[in-house]
Amino acid sequence: MTSKGQVSFHGSAVAPDNFLEDVVTGLSLARKELPPKYFYDARGSALFEEICTLPEYYPTRAEIALTRQHIAEIARFAGEGSELIEYGSGASTKTRILLEALEPAVYVPVDISESALRGAAALLETEFPWLNVRAVVGDFGRPLAIPAFAGAGRKVVYFPGSTIGNLTREESLAFLHMTRGQVGPGGAMLVGVDVKKDPNLLHAAYNDSQGVTAKFNLNLLSRINAELGGDFEVGKFVHYAFYNAPMGRIEMHLASLERQTANVGSYRFRFAPGESIHTENSCKYSVEEFQALAAQAGFRGEKVWMDDARLFSLHGLVAA
Ligand SMILES: C[S@@+](CC[C@H](N)C(=O)[O-])C[C@H]1O[C@@H](n2cnc3c(N)ncnc32)[C@H](O)[C@@H]1O
Repeated sequence: MTSKGQVSFHGSAVAPDNFLEDVVTGLSLARKELPPKYFYDARGSALFEEICTLPEYYPTRAEIALTRQHIAEIARFAGEGSELIEYGSGASTKTRILLEALEPAVYVPVDISESALRGAAALLETEFPWLNVRAVVGDFGRPLAIPAFAGAGRKVVYFPGSTIGNLTREESLAFLHMTRGQVGPGGAMLVGVDVKKDPNLLHAAYNDSQGVTAKFNLNLLSRINAELGGDFEVGKFVHYAFYNAPMGRIEMHLASLERQTANVGSYRFRFAPGESIHTENSCKYSVEEFQALAAQAGFRGEKVWMDDARLFSLHGLVAA
């Protein structure tokens, strides 16, 4: 390709009012919780990239390996000259393998983290000078305007990293329904999904020996302090992650080490010793479970690719 691509930015970051409302609502519940999308300020995004390089964190390595191994077939499935929309694109690392093989007419990375999007777009501009990039800052859990691009082919939504595992079953269904409408009949989706496996492997992946996942989790309290006038004593909370087998998910929590109170603006929250804030789920799906979920949302499961160790899956779905 010889022509020069164009890079543009659209959308806007989550308003501070929504952040405050979500924090106050979540911390007022009998079982306190916070939405995982707030992990991703600039520091959170950088810490997530560090997690991806950890020896215990197999999902990134496995997904990259399976994508490289099956890229010819993935490219045949997705087709060339498409409009490639990626939700939760972060650093767009895995996407580079697709971009080379698919040569899309336009790439639309969508992420809640403006710093991650801007960092990724700057590198893509140098590495893929021919690529048209329409970056969208926004929350994929809400209706988002995706900029139109004349002349692009089939719409293909890419959703790697098992980010879908962070959604509840209802949220996943709603998200899949939304994307099915977006890609239109015959449009496609590539979804990276972490599979059920030995709980010890799962436990290690979310309790790394260097404590990076702990820093990532605790950063949420630092972010509340910085952006919402909170006074959490971060050192009085600990990262706590375990595999909840009946629910088929890793749960991440922040547990209070003692009886304490924390203020967020004019709101006060009490914590008993050991009481936790549930900060993230990472749901694990067997191939059959995920195919059934996708079918419920109107997608036909056409292909499933896995790495040699069968740790991770990439589903090729077509809107029925
Ligand atoms: C688990 S990381 C995956 C990153 C990358 N896709 C990968 O595979 O390594 C989740 C990404 O989704 C973004 N994200 C999380 N919740 C979001 C939301 N509600 N709307 C938009 N982006 C979101 C985060 O900023 C982060 O970049």
